[in-house]
Order: sequence, then structure tokens, then C-alpha cells
Amino acid sequence: MAQTSFIHANQGILFAEDVSLETIANQFGTPTYIYSKNTLIQAFESFQKGLLKTNHLICFAVKANSNIAILNLFASLGAGFDIVSGGELERVLYAGGDPQKIVFSGVGKTVSEIEAALKANILCFNVESRSELLRIEAVASKINVKAPISIRVNPDVDAKTHPYISTGLKDNKFGVDFNQALALYLEAKGMSYIEIKGIDCHIGSQITELKPFVDALDRVLSLVDQLKKNNIHLSHVDIGGGIGICYQDESPPDFDIYTKAILNKIQNLDVKIIFEPGRALVGNAGVLLSKVEYLKQNDIKHFAIIDAAMNDLMRPTLYDAYHEIKIVREQDTKLQSFDVVGPVCESGDFIAKNRSLKLKENDLVCIMSTGAYGMSMSSNYNSRGRAAEVMVDRDKIFEIRAREKSSDLFKLEKKIPL
Ligand code: LLP
Repeated sequence: MAQTSFIHANQGILFAEDVSLETIANQFGTPTYIYSKNTLIQAFESFQKGLLKTNHLICFAVKANSNIAILNLFASLGAGFDIVSGGELERVLYAGGDPQKIVFSGVGKTVSEIEAALKANILCFNVESRSELLRIEAVASKINVKAPISIRVNPDVDAKTHPYISTGLKDNKFGVDFNQALALYLEAKGMSYIEIKGIDCHIGSQITELKPFVDALDRVLSLVDQLKKNNIHLSHVDIGGGIGICYQDESPPDFDIYTKAILNKIQNLDVKIIFEPGRALVGNAGVLLSKVEYLKQNDIKHFAIIDAAMNDLMRPTLYDAYHEIKIVREQDTKLQSFDVVGPVCESGDFIAKNRSLKLKENDLVCIMSTGAYGMSMSSNYNSRGRAAEVMVDRDKIFEIRAREKSSDLFKLEKKIPL
């Protein structure tokens, strides 16, 4: 996905689609996440374009952005969903997602999560260990249904991405060791309350090369072959998510090239192909609007203290991630190098470091490419209410999540008698 294209300048002011960012700040305050409805639709449709003639399912990875309005929009386009918790299951169902298009990943599924997913009649559990398989069989037998499963194999392929978001190596906790997968399938075949549906892998996130995907798929397909020889026939192959986006100067393969490379490998198999993209569908469809509260400097540094912080956007702190910063109404002040930081009491609370910007106090800034893993990773650290979220559709603005009030933050807490 190309860099955020729905943000553009009009007579010196930034707009999101046809709405001025100043209007959004006046109406909803800051910090506020802004998403573009038309960019979301475009991203989904361009991912799907190369797949239309193939039996496929695009399961949006809910963890990337779990706002109900976004899930509802994707559901209306025919998307399925990759979930990793009972909470995500409830969200997807509430948003109108089709249970028969839900795959359930994650290494720590609890008994109650498994039960809820079985009762909802989801498409498939992506099983990450033998213990999990045994637990799923036990829960399924208790409620007398057959649990649909895939085994998530760990292909031991280097995704060449940040170590925190690499998942397909032996060092990582994810998936079943490639060499143990066949035995586990054979065991699953003998279980009365298990129905083998497919095979799954996911090797990491923000992957900008094609090769790791192709290598992982090759390994998965070699296993599909072995399974066939053992009379285990699959109805789907799930290749996971992970395709990267452009934050700065990365050039990930475009959707067409990516899907073609995958389809080339599986076209002779009579299976549905499942994808689990998260970031690629939402990352560049969202930005975070914030205001400069203070400028301060010492002998060596200029700081811009903005009203968005690590609790709103964790990625710079956690992964040293780069997010471009644009000024909403740039004025003629000196270009200086700034560390753009938030109000949270941690030195790790920064949004950007050493950026050349023309900044003044009270300026609005737009933090780019924050539609994925922005709001969904936010917290209330320092008792900061979460940001508001709005969606623009040409000249219309919809509030899709109200700003959290302080009272929202402690409403579940109780005093003890003293
Ligand atoms: N499927 C599974 C099983 C996953 O674990 C993930 C992401 C996805 C699909 C979607 O991956 P995507 O297409 O979005 O790359 N917080 C990190 C990213 C963590 C990704 C975790 N798993 C970040 O902000 O970069």
C-alpha cells in the first residue's frame, strides 16, 4: 500500500479526503485518529483484485485495527476476520462479521474462548500446539460438536523484519514445529471431535520482500503433499498476513505481485486460499492528528511536546518505528531539528526523533501511516483517556469512537472500606 494518499494540501492546509484537518480538530479536539473510508475500500478491493477468479477468503487481522466501524465496513465488502481472543470474536460478531469467515489464531486460547468460538460456529481454529489441540477436542466433545481446525506450522523462515514482529522462526513461540506437524495431523485425524480443514502459517509482519512468503509457502506445500499421502485432504491453505506498507521509503511488493506469486504456487491444488492481512489494509488509511502544546530547548536539543503520546501510539517507543510528521498549516518559521515527544513521564515517550520541521506552539500536526497498530495498541497509561476516532467519507465526518473521559477510566474500580 502506498503512503497515506488521502491526506493532501489545499491552499496550504492539510485535508483528509475533502475535510480540513483544522475542522476535525475544532469539532473533535486532539489527539484524534482519522481514517479514510474510501482508502479502506480501495485497499480491500485492490488486495482482492488478483483473487477474484480464485476460491479465496481475505480475513482481516482484527488486531491491526478493531474499531467496530472498520470491521463493519470490511464485513460489508465480504471480508472474513482473523481473531486472536474472545474479545475480538465478540467485536466481529457485533460488527456483523460472518462466523463462517472467522479464523481463530493465537497461542493461548482459553477454554471459554474455545467454547464461545465453537458456539458461534467459526470457520476454523488455527491450532498452535498439541496441548491446544487436546483442549479443543475436550471442549468440543463436552458440547458435542466437531471442531474445525488447521495446524499453524512454523516453517522456520526468516521474515527479515523487526525481531518483535517476526513469528516464523524456531525461536518464536508461534506455531507447531515443522517437523512435528505431520504427527500432530495424524493424531488429529484420529480424534472424534476434530475435523481437519486446512493448514496455516504466518511468518511475521511488515515484510517487504516476496521471498520469505514464497519460501514459507513452499514448506507448507511440501507438508500438504505428505498429508495427501497419508490420506489427509485439506480444504484450505491459510498463508497468514504480514505484507508490509510504505512508512518512509520501503517498497513492499504490491498486492498484485504478492497474490500472483502465491497463486502460482497453489493453482493446481483444489483448495481455498486464505489471507490474513492486517496492516496492509489499514496502515495507510489512518493518521493521528495532534497539537503542539509546548516547544522547549536546551543546548543540544529542541523538543516539541505534543498532546499525543506513547499511550496513543506505541510503535515508535516499542519498535523504534518511523512515522512521518506533517504540519497541518505550515508557516514561515525556522526549520529546526526536533524530537517530537508526548506528555507521558518516560524518556521512551517519543513519537519522532531528529526531524526537520517548521513548528510553532499550537500548530496541528498529522502523524502519518497510523491506521494499523495505532489505536489498537493504545493504553490509558498516565490516566490518559484514549483518543477519539473519526472516519471521513469525502466531505462527511463520522465519529466512530468518542474520546474517553477520565470517569470512563476508573468506572470499574472500587474503594475498599477503611
Ligand atoms: N495473522 C496472524 C496470526 C498474526 O499474528 C498477525 C499479526 C497477522 C495475521 C497480521 O499481520 P499484518 O498483516 O498486520 O502484518 N504491533 C506490530 C505488529 C504485530 C503483528 C502481530 N501479528 C506493529 O505495530 O508493527
